[in-house]
Amino acid sequence: MAVIVAGSLNIDLLVNLERMPNPGETVKGHTFSVYPGGKGLNSAVAAARSGAETSMIGAVGSDIYAEILRSLMLEEKIDDSQVKSVSGASGIALIEVDADSQNRVIVVAGANSEMRSEQFVASNFSKNNQNVVLAQLETPVNELLKIFKLAKSSGFLTILNPSPIVEVPDELYSYVDYLLPNQHEATILSGVEISNEVQAFVAAEKLLVLGVKAVIITLGELGAIFLSAETRIYQPSFPANVHDTTGAGDAFCGALAAEVQRGSEIKSALKYAAVAGALSTEKSGAAPSIPMRSEILSYLENSKMRGN
Ligand code: RIB
Repeated sequence: MAVIVAGSLNIDLLVNLERMPNPGETVKGHTFSVYPGGKGLNSAVAAARSGAETSMIGAVGSDIYAEILRSLMLEEKIDDSQVKSVSGASGIALIEVDADSQNRVIVVAGANSEMRSEQFVASNFSKNNQNVVLAQLETPVNELLKIFKLAKSSGFLTILNPSPIVEVPDELYSYVDYLLPNQHEATILSGVEISNEVQAFVAAEKLLVLGVKAVIITLGELGAIFLSAETRIYQPSFPANVHDTTGAGDAFCGALAAEVQRGSEIKSALKYAAVAGALSTEKSGAAPSIPMRSEILSYLENSKMRGN
């Protein structure tokens, strides 16, 4: 069984500050940190920390940052044999987090734009098990289309986290099992303004028409919803001492992918992923804040005792 993440690897340059500057204004920051990140790598870390055999498909540059990204994969036991090294800069994200834990992110793709579909070799993975391919939109979409096509024809379950929103060929959706946007992305994709779970279900109905098998929308502190032709689930959120929401969506996606490949029912996979997302907001940074399976299970156990 495996989770294969086709996605970005970035170095996150993170500044914590009181409030965001206005155009032309200079403000003082509180702290500056350098973390490994990228929506792809964060999701892969989440899947690995949830106990899934995890591989990444992507690219790093020839700079010092590449070593940080490779070391993290080694530490987390993420197979990086299909992460190629290209000449030039690794992907970079400039992240600002203010006193209200709101963030702003600028991403420069760098090596991420060199990911190619040939790096995905379906035959490397056993066909007897439920393999999952998970992707986001920080790597070239035409390459993702080829990967998803091949993954579906090889019996994999496919999850697309359409983040950040970029134009994708309509055909891509026909190879997607779970489309997993956040509230903001679902609003853009569906045209439905979402401020509660009822509106999220209306948006999900519209997104199903794209040709995906199911839609999962994460709603931050409102929880998450799942909608397919047969199933409708509302998963409330779990309380957390929110410090930094960066990467919470990636934590949710990776944890969900791990649970699905483990064979869990979607209802319990959603619950598990919601806890992963909540716990990841309690620490600074994206990849470093992602919880282990043991932490998620003990949180669930405690919340059961509290009657949640
Ligand atoms: O989702 C959070 C991630 O988005 C950050 O780690 C950053 O690298 C950007 O890709």
